[in-house]
Amino acid sequence: MFSRRFDMGVKVGGAVAGTVALCVFLIGYFGVRNDVADVGYRPQQPVPFSHKVHAGYTQISCQYCHAGVEVSGHSPVPSVQTCMNCHTVVRNESPKLKLVRDNYEKGTPIEWVRIHKVPDYAHFNHSRHIRAQIDCKSCHGPVEEMGVVSQYKSLSMGWCLDCHRNPEQRIVGARPISGIFTGMKIDQKNMMDSTFLYKPLRAAQIAAVQPVVVPSYGFGQSPVPAQQVHGIPQPKQAGVGPENCSSCHY
Ligand code: HEC
Ligand code: HEC
Ligand code: HEC
Ligand code: HEC
Ligand code: HEC
Repeated sequence: MFSRRFDMGVKVGGAVAGTVALCVFLIGYFGVRNDVADVGYRPQQPVPFSHKVHAGYTQISCQYCHAGVEVSGHSPVPSVQTCMNCHTVVRNESPKLKLVRDNYEKGTPIEWVRIHKVPDYAHFNHSRHIRAQIDCKSCHGPVEEMGVVSQYKSLSMGWCLDCHRNPEQRIVGARPISGIFTGMKIDQKNMMDSTFLYKPLRAAQIAAVQPVVVPSYGFGQSPVPAQQVHGIPQPKQAGVGPENCSSCHY
């Protein structure tokens, strides 16, 4: 008959094989699931803010509201102050903007629901990518055509690495609407003055917004005098993103 030792071997072997199979299944399952789970994630926001109206129709560049992406790791959602730069004048009675006005008076922020998030054990830095003139569209899709922003790419590790391996196929170069390194700077003062360019939109006009192919420079932007570029890291040609674990996990 079989020796005890052999019996033991079968049991241990079976347990090991079972564990390995379970691991493979779990990694496979969650790996695949991760790739698709969050795409299209579109939470209910406290204010019915539309990128299609602001970035698409009104041509306010991304940088005007998401200031600092060129220089910091983070790309913050704008403060109420930024909204009120325009909305003290534009649609200042609108019930849709009541929460914005209330928060402005109280000096409290709007509690926007965060959409894009990589887990804490992975590190993502906007400025490195923006400096290499990688347009927001490469990762966030055509936000200026979205009435409500939703997650466009999986943000999975495979997605990061796919672009790091094949950047030329994945990168959309900087577009004027993004306001990143296009030689134009946002001019808050002109922006205020040019609120007079503002014409009320009708629903039909908003519905008819065409995808922006070659956007003109938005209002409130003026050429950057050479010395003003100072302090902002200079744009560079995109190299290749890293693949070693420690670049993203540390
Ligand atoms: C540079 C100017 C500008 C800034 C800054 C701006 N908006 Fe607007 N906003 C507009 C214009 C122009 C419209 C279109 C008004 C229309 O429909 O005629 C608009 C429309 C809106 C509407 C729809 C109002 C309605 O009654 O239909 C909401 C809501 C809104 N904005 C929220 C915001 C929020 C929140 C912020 C800050 C994150 C913001 N806006 C920042 C110019 C601006
Ligand atoms: C008028 C101000 C304004 C402009 C211009 C603007 N945004 Fe936004 N953006 C916001 C606000 C407010 C939110 C938070 C509410 C929401 O998610 O719709 C937001 C949210 C986002 C988010 C989701 C953030 C998250 O929680 O993950 C992305 C991505 C984004 N914007 C990209 C862009 C891009 C790309 C452009 C240019 C094409 C742009 N935005 C132009 C105000 C603006
Ligand atoms: C290379 C891909 C990539 C590019 C290019 C990119 N983003 Fe992002 N963005 C991300 C990722 C990944 C996250 C989630 C980051 C995190 O969790 O720390 C994110 C998060 C955000 C958020 C939410 C951050 C927060 O703190 O709430 C905003 C807003 C945003 N991006 C706007 C922009 C804008 C505007 C541009 C262009 C100027 C841009 N992004 C370009 C990948 C990108
Ligand atoms: C659309 C293409 C694209 C996507 C998507 C992308 N990257 Fe990159 N990434 C690049 C390129 C190109 C560079 C090299 C930039 C340069 O030349 O400086 C880079 C550089 C980096 C660097 C190096 C920065 C440093 O300090 O050396 C890190 C880290 C990084 N990416 C992390 C990520 C993470 C994490 C994600 C996914 C959440 C991601 N990237 C998604 C294109 C991309
Ligand atoms: C370009 C950046 C980048 C590099 C390089 C990278 N990772 Fe990741 N990794 C990520 C991101 C982003 C996530 C989070 C993905 C998600 O949300 O599902 C992640 C998730 C993970 C996870 C969690 C399981 C999963 O897939 O969700 C493990 C384990 C992991 N990475 C290991 C590694 C190892 C080992 C290496 C080196 C061979 C490596 N990573 C290199 C960006 C990177």
